Amino acid sequence: MPNAPTRSTVARLMTLLQSSAKACPCHSHAHSHHHHPSTTTASFNSLLQYGRQYASAQDPSQQKEYAFEMAASNIRFGEGVTSEVGADLNNLKAKKVAVFTDPKIAKLHPLKAVVESLERNKVNYVIYDNVRVEPTDISFKQAIEFSKTHNPDAFVAVGGGSVIDTTKAANLYTAYPDADFLDFVNAPIGKGRPVDKPLKPLIAIPTTAGTGSETTGTAIFDYVPLHFKTGIAHRALKPLLGIVDPLNTRSMPTQVHTASGLDVLCHALESYTALPYSERTPRPQNPLNRPAYQGSNPISDVWSLHALKMVVEYLPRAVKNPDDHEAQKQMLLAATFAGIGFGNAGVHLCHGLSYPISGLNKSYKHPDYDVDYPIVPHGISVALTAPSVFRFTGALCPDRHIDAAVAFGVDRSSIKQSTAGHVLSERLTRFLEDLNVPNGLSALGFSSSDIGDLVKGTLPQERVTKLSPGGAPGEEELASIFESSMTNY
Ligand SMILES: NC(=O)c1ccc[n+]([C@@H]2O[C@H](COP(=O)([O-])OP(=O)(O)OC[C@H]3O[C@@H](n4cnc5c(N)ncnc54)[C@H](O)[C@@H]3O)[C@@H](O)[C@H]2O)c1
Ligand SMILES: [Zn+2]
Repeated sequence: MPNAPTRSTVARLMTLLQSSAKACPCHSHAHSHHHHPSTTTASFNSLLQYGRQYASAQDPSQQKEYAFEMAASNIRFGEGVTSEVGADLNNLKAKKVAVFTDPKIAKLHPLKAVVESLERNKVNYVIYDNVRVEPTDISFKQAIEFSKTHNPDAFVAVGGGSVIDTTKAANLYTAYPDADFLDFVNAPIGKGRPVDKPLKPLIAIPTTAGTGSETTGTAIFDYVPLHFKTGIAHRALKPLLGIVDPLNTRSMPTQVHTASGLDVLCHALESYTALPYSERTPRPQNPLNRPAYQGSNPISDVWSLHALKMVVEYLPRAVKNPDDHEAQKQMLLAATFAGIGFGNAGVHLCHGLSYPISGLNKSYKHPDYDVDYPIVPHGISVALTAPSVFRFTGALCPDRHIDAAVAFGVDRSSIKQSTAGHVLSERLTRFLEDLNVPNGLSALGFSSSDIGDLVKGTLPQERVTKLSPGGAPGEEELASIFESSMTNY
């Protein structure tokens, strides 16, 4: 039972009411142009009503968020700029540098350019070239062991999201050598422990135009015991510097262009349509606990919507013509734009649903991926549900879906609020078909009988699904999104 208001609380509320007429409950009625008679029963009741709101506003767990925070790495963009990394490490006074890459990149231009720069600048380094493409908890732990053994004072990641994420984990657990692996993994799978000390500098050099991981504090891996992906997310993980060099993405095979580009598309669309940050609860009591993924916010909006327009224009060109270096360069920029947008706003359903899609895959192996195990590339796993996801979320924030459809070239005046989700979904479907993306989850070998497991694997992805514009959907809604994603066109 709430305590009866004392004279002093009533007096304080009176002062508050007078200074805050906008919040006055009396003014919630239209045409109520009255004065405040301070002695009537009606006004006393309003005071009590307001007092209750004021009292509950003291409990942070019930309060909505009131602030958002922008974090991003420093970004250096330019053709050939990888050659500066050695000088950067000298400027950081690094004595021992650990360079992480995957077995394929180890043989290609990006790693050669890094090694050349390190040698020229006489940097002391060790190389770990065994990062797993689409990493797992096991592959993360192997990289962490390497890092703990060498205990470097700076890290360089040369590769796609798989390499950059693995390097972030190596950096984190080397700083907390006694931590249990699950300590920092997102709740409810892990403990979601916040990172409360600075990590060693990490320079990320992306070789795909995709994840934007060079800008974010997120590291994603497949948690093998549970057959779905999860991650570690804290802004302390974010690289100090992203060296974004268009020469490094030139060797991407067509399917890596497509998959990593579709990841950018979903980062942009999901962050732009995410629940607004001011609707998120609880308001963190300590700023350290404000999540990296905060919901859509005015600054992320700019980055995300612009990234979307770039993907619509340049991804089809980059995929269809391997010599279209301009389109490839713009896609690399778009990945970074979207990374800054979604790195602060977050992603929601396409990503939440993708984690069991990749984790439950048994035999599908995407072309152009040089690995000896089944693989659904991350970008494919997020894109296949996109037409159904945005049909579902359309009614929850129609204006944002209209903006997105306009980015796809639809005439704004032709879209009604009630059809925004459908129109966007239709455009997305055509975009995917044009890029020759597998036709829905059935093309990966899933059928209706897998939906129960797919839903079960999505429920723990609350960190992202709760950023859907209507909050986390229930089991039936998830099942229906999966069902309608079995075939897209
Ligand atoms: N941290 C984040 O914010 C974030 C965001 C999205 C995705 N991810 C994660 O990132 C991973 C996917 O990363 P990705 O899409 O960048 O691809 P990737 O790192 O998995 O690489 C895909 C394949 O392309 C090859 N490759 C990469 N660059 C190449 C190049 N320039 N030339 C030739 N081959 C090249 C790789 O060797 C690999 O075989 C997934 O694990 C995903 O969950 C992380
Ligand atoms: Zn992604």
